Amino acid sequence: MTEQTETQQRPALVVDFGAQYAQLIARRVREAGVYSEIVPHTATAEEIAAKNPVALILSGGPSSVYEEGAPQLDPAVFELGVPTLGICYGFQYMAQTLGGEVAHTGLREYGATDAHIPATDSTLLAGQPAEQNVWMSHGDQVSRAPEGFDVLATTDATKVAAFANEGRKLYGVQWHPEVKHSDHGQAIIENFLHRGAGLPADWNSDNVIAEQIERIREQVGDARVISALSGGVDSAVSTALVHKAIGDQLTAVFVDHGLLRKGEREQVEKDYVESTGVRLITVDAVDTFLGHLEGVTDPETKRKIIGREFIRAFEQVQRDLVEEAKATGGAPVKFLVQGTLYPDVVESGGGAGTANIKSHHNVGGLPDDLDFELVEPLRALFKDEVRAIGRELGIPEAIVGRQPFPGPGLGIRIIGEVTLERLEILREADAIAREELTKAGLDETIWQCPVVLLADVRSVGVQGDGRTYGHPIVLRPVSSEDAMTADWTRLPYDVLAKISNRITNEVREVNRVVLDVTSKPPATIEWE
Ligand code: XMP
Repeated sequence: MTEQTETQQRPALVVDFGAQYAQLIARRVREAGVYSEIVPHTATAEEIAAKNPVALILSGGPSSVYEEGAPQLDPAVFELGVPTLGICYGFQYMAQTLGGEVAHTGLREYGATDAHIPATDSTLLAGQPAEQNVWMSHGDQVSRAPEGFDVLATTDATKVAAFANEGRKLYGVQWHPEVKHSDHGQAIIENFLHRGAGLPADWNSDNVIAEQIERIREQVGDARVISALSGGVDSAVSTALVHKAIGDQLTAVFVDHGLLRKGEREQVEKDYVESTGVRLITVDAVDTFLGHLEGVTDPETKRKIIGREFIRAFEQVQRDLVEEAKATGGAPVKFLVQGTLYPDVVESGGGAGTANIKSHHNVGGLPDDLDFELVEPLRALFKDEVRAIGRELGIPEAIVGRQPFPGPGLGIRIIGEVTLERLEILREADAIAREELTKAGLDETIWQCPVVLLADVRSVGVQGDGRTYGHPIVLRPVSSEDAMTADWTRLPYDVLAKISNRITNEVREVNRVVLDVTSKPPATIEWE
């Protein structure tokens, strides 16, 4: 497996102090047109300098700087001469480390808070209103700014709510500019990057595509490459990107396990292939998968069977391609494309290796011992960036805009045994829900909406002049930033009514539609 850095671009580095803010900050930085990466706070000044950063942002953290075991950062980082912005805990850490004072005043500020900004011509707060609503979450306060720093903002509880040392290009804010509840948060991040650090807004999908194409060509040379298409966004975009780089050296493989949503196979085989020109092999494995799933109700067992059969099908294609290469004297098949995204890289320790991709997100769970080197052109990217690149590459919107969908597919959205008949019921219900949500313009509002068939539950209903004994369908619309936590989406009643009416009218075996109104935690997004 080759080690790679994420891109050749010099990054703005977000130092992660351990709360959940670092990824959000990294995304906001990219929204400002500047490439960003995340490093743990345990990185030394030397390691940070080695990444050649154009700016540093110290994230918030869970704790007080006085707490035992509070996260630390090598103080030499402040001597690197790199423009730095401290946020919340990062701001307090900066204040304390550079000789200011952080006090335990007992005055806490949580949630929406009024910030007062006496002068709105500073680099950091230029163009900001003098009074604004910001999002706070802190116990301690910076009570005195370090020498050489100007105080830029206060709140009723905090004498020093933002500061700057223009000479050293060091800045800090007590509030969280990365959250949308801070009224002018993004403008602060942009001021820091563009005015403070003097960085242009030049990170965009065109650059990413051009750079990745060059890297892919360099990595694979003349060898052949295969890619497993799942129908999902990540594999669709990574495959298209690799195809753009090396054309028919790439073969894409699509395993139809019968657990797909309505129309998905056709979208991949027809629309995707037409728009990208990819050479595609579809493996029709519906009977095999359903045969192995017969009588199985336990979700973990289902997952294992689906994963195992996926690998078998894929390995068969691999063997065929290797044989074909031998027979025709073609170049050997040496590489495998994976749609690993940046959050996977960060969550698995941020290492350059990829051995520890979460198997959860590794569709079908390809095993480590496949004899391939990985090509991972999306390793530096967040989901929204992947979508932007997919659109740029001309992948149909129906694929690029698709909601997250689990690798084991509808297999885990049928509670009970998976059979062809039940899959047909769920496919119809799911298609109706998706169609109505799209029609109502709600695709941007919801993160995903699993539609679940409670196949082992039946209840009495009445239709026409007869009693029915049908299954319930569960709608599980959720809003989320990253699927780690989620809330149930408050869909308009008329949309819910429309979906419910259509499903019960058009899908004969369903006589109830119910709505899941649980957040995650305590529930998960998927039912299984
Ligand atoms: P849960 O149900 O754990 O789901 O809250 C979190 C997110 O992960 C998706 N999910 C999967 N994605 N393979 C995948 O590629 C899987 O096996 C899998 N299981 C759950 C789920 O749809 C949600 O977005």
